Amino acid sequence: MLQDLPAKSKPRYTIAMNAFPDLRLRRARRTPGIRALFDLEIPDPAKWCWPLFLVPGAGVKAEIASMPDQFHWSADRICEAVEPAVRQGVGSVLLFGQSDRPKDNGGSGAWDERGPVQQAVRALKRAFPQLTVMTDVCLCAYTSHGHCAPLRPDGALDNDAACACLAKVALSHAAAGADVVAPSAMMDGQVAAIRASLAEDGFDDTLLMAYSTKFASACYGPFRDAEGSAPTPPPGAPADRRGYQASPANPRAALLESALDEQEGADLLMVKPALFYTDMIAALKARTLLPVAAYNVSGEYAMLIATARAGWGDLRDLVRESALALTRAGADLIISYWANRYDELLA
Ligand code: PBG
Ligand code: ZN
Repeated sequence: MLQDLPAKSKPRYTIAMNAFPDLRLRRARRTPGIRALFDLEIPDPAKWCWPLFLVPGAGVKAEIASMPDQFHWSADRICEAVEPAVRQGVGSVLLFGQSDRPKDNGGSGAWDERGPVQQAVRALKRAFPQLTVMTDVCLCAYTSHGHCAPLRPDGALDNDAACACLAKVALSHAAAGADVVAPSAMMDGQVAAIRASLAEDGFDDTLLMAYSTKFASACYGPFRDAEGSAPTPPPGAPADRRGYQASPANPRAALLESALDEQEGADLLMVKPALFYTDMIAALKARTLLPVAAYNVSGEYAMLIATARAGWGDLRDLVRESALALTRAGADLIISYWANRYDELLA
């Protein structure tokens, strides 16, 4: 009966529930299943790239003292090295090398078509045609002074001569079958020089990943030990790489480096190091439509290993949290020494 209804019904709730106690964010974090609904995921192994170190000789597999669990490999064992990563689904590798030729001012060992990197590229493309093989294009492991460019008689870096050398290196890698060449010398015009040489020789399909925003970082130490590529300058030559790598204190110039590499014909850009520079990854992503790689460098790797070994943190948790930092920042490709342990640490 109508008259049984209360004369005036009072709403039992308000429409705007945007404050405690109605609003409780912990609801969306209560169980692993609920969290998984909302959380970002660590990228699939296909989005990871594993760097590897080639050395001259045969039968070599030697642990790198400054980079625990990473090894020097000779080209004849490179397929054995890479097979477990391929099995886990890792999409790409990035090859670094050294030569048994004497080091010289121009780093000529770097474009030896029988060098360890060139041999390894051929072997890998034969054994794993579906694996994307990238190569680092630089001179510092091959020059007598450890700089990424030849030195002029006055000790200054010869930028334009370096570009010509780097183009020869990139061509030798492309000719061996590299899918991606990645110049890391931070010389002005290096991307344009390499793109032009590739085009001239008909390598239209070779991708060019520019180490476009590469900082003069203190985080490369373990790598330089592994590569024997620390600068050992003669008198009059620069003591470090600050004259060519980007300044950590000048983010605008660092972004301009990437913008120029894009104009010069890069297919992929990169920020390096990665974890100290997540702001740069995000800023670059906002400014380019090219894919952006993040290079999680040797010193960043060493920091987590050292923390875990001291018993101050769990390695898997540390690695996963760092991978999420790069994912949040917007990295499309993660170049990392963890890649070969994807199943153990990242899956
Ligand atoms: C050389 C090069 C370096 C790295 C990659 N290519 C070191 C440097 O610039 O001295 C660093 C990689 C790492 O630390 O993992 N051009
Ligand atoms: Zn270099």
